[in-house]
Amino acid sequence: MAQSWTEGRVLGKVAWTERLFSLRIAAGIEPFQAGQFTKLGLEVDGELVGRPYSLVNSPEEQPLDFTFVVVPGGPLSAKLASLEPDARIWVAPRANGFLVLREVPEAAHLWLMATGTGVGPFLSILKTALPWDRFERVVLVHAARYAPELIYPETVQGIARAHPDRFVYVPFVSREKTDFALTGRIPQAIGDGRLETRAGILLKPESSQVMLCGNPEMVADTTGALLARGLKKHRRREPGQISVENYW
Ligand SMILES: Cc1cc2nc3c(=O)[nH]c(=O)nc-3n(C[C@H](O)[C@H](O)[C@H](O)COP(=O)(O)OP(=O)(O)OC[C@H]3O[C@@H](n4cnc5c(N)ncnc54)[C@H](O)[C@@H]3O)c2cc1C
Ligand SMILES: NC(=O)c1ccc[n+]([C@@H]2O[C@H](COP(=O)([O-])OP(=O)(O)OC[C@H]3O[C@@H](n4cnc5c(N)ncnc54)[C@H](OP(=O)(O)O)[C@@H]3O)[C@@H](O)[C@H]2O)c1
Repeated sequence: MAQSWTEGRVLGKVAWTERLFSLRIAAGIEPFQAGQFTKLGLEVDGELVGRPYSLVNSPEEQPLDFTFVVVPGGPLSAKLASLEPDARIWVAPRANGFLVLREVPEAAHLWLMATGTGVGPFLSILKTALPWDRFERVVLVHAARYAPELIYPETVQGIARAHPDRFVYVPFVSREKTDFALTGRIPQAIGDGRLETRAGILLKPESSQVMLCGNPEMVADTTGALLARGLKKHRRREPGQISVENYW
């Protein structure tokens, strides 16, 4: 255990809703790139259960910050939700993953589209200088079932204040009415033009790079909507405009 895990300590906990949390954890891990994930681990019924979680803090920030939803019947997420400050937790010291700007080709506009906790790695990216050095405008699209699940509002407001003419935040709330969020789902709003109207930017292959993160069905359906608009999946040997990370 000691070789692949380092021991961390919970410093703080945020309960966004009854089933959606963030944990701030003090742990020494190796340098990582914004957008990557590491593993969190706890003993469950005498066995160490580890799962991947995206880092929400930027590489320059301490402590580590993770956000997670309690998955019904899932062994680790329920246990994570029960932790309180001072609790011990195992953290894998080396982060991984390709949902990082180093993997994304040049473009005028960067679109970051997430469902649920998939917004975490995008907040890490947006807190670094890299997107603002490389892209003229950045659109963060976050879809949740209910308004309180649009997490980290203060972080989003801080990013908006820091980049007033270059950052657009587009929230979606699908299961209740609000006076500020788009309704429905991301792929449909790409298809009918509502997303571009709200963002004030067109989704064109020649000017766009799109990163998708979260629910694999959203990733698949949104990829389909983007392919229909002429964008292509990005592969190292075959550059395109769509980069993805599935959470399950
Ligand atoms: C690269 C990567 C990064 C991830 N980052 C995060 C993160 O930042 N925050 C986060 O909450 N989760 C994240 N996950 C999912 C996370 O690793 C766990 O699977 C999740 O927390 C549930 O853990 P569990 O042990 O309770 O249940 P598991 O045994 O892992 O899962 C139980 C079942 O639920 C499904 N499932 C897993 N996660 C979800 C979900 N969020 N919604 C619906 N169904 C799900 C699984 O496919 C499985 O069928 C990430 C997954 C991957 C692959
Ligand atoms: N949020 C809750 O209150 C709740 C309660 C109990 C259990 N859970 C469990 O927790 C898991 C995670 O829930 P979550 O609310 O964080 O994430 P989620 O189910 O992925 O929902 C987040 C957002 O993604 C949208 N979405 C779902 N499928 C999509 C698709 N194919 N294309 C585009 N958008 C899509 C949802 O719209 P729609 O609303 O249209 O689906 C919602 O706006 C769920 O799988 C569920 O098992 C959640």
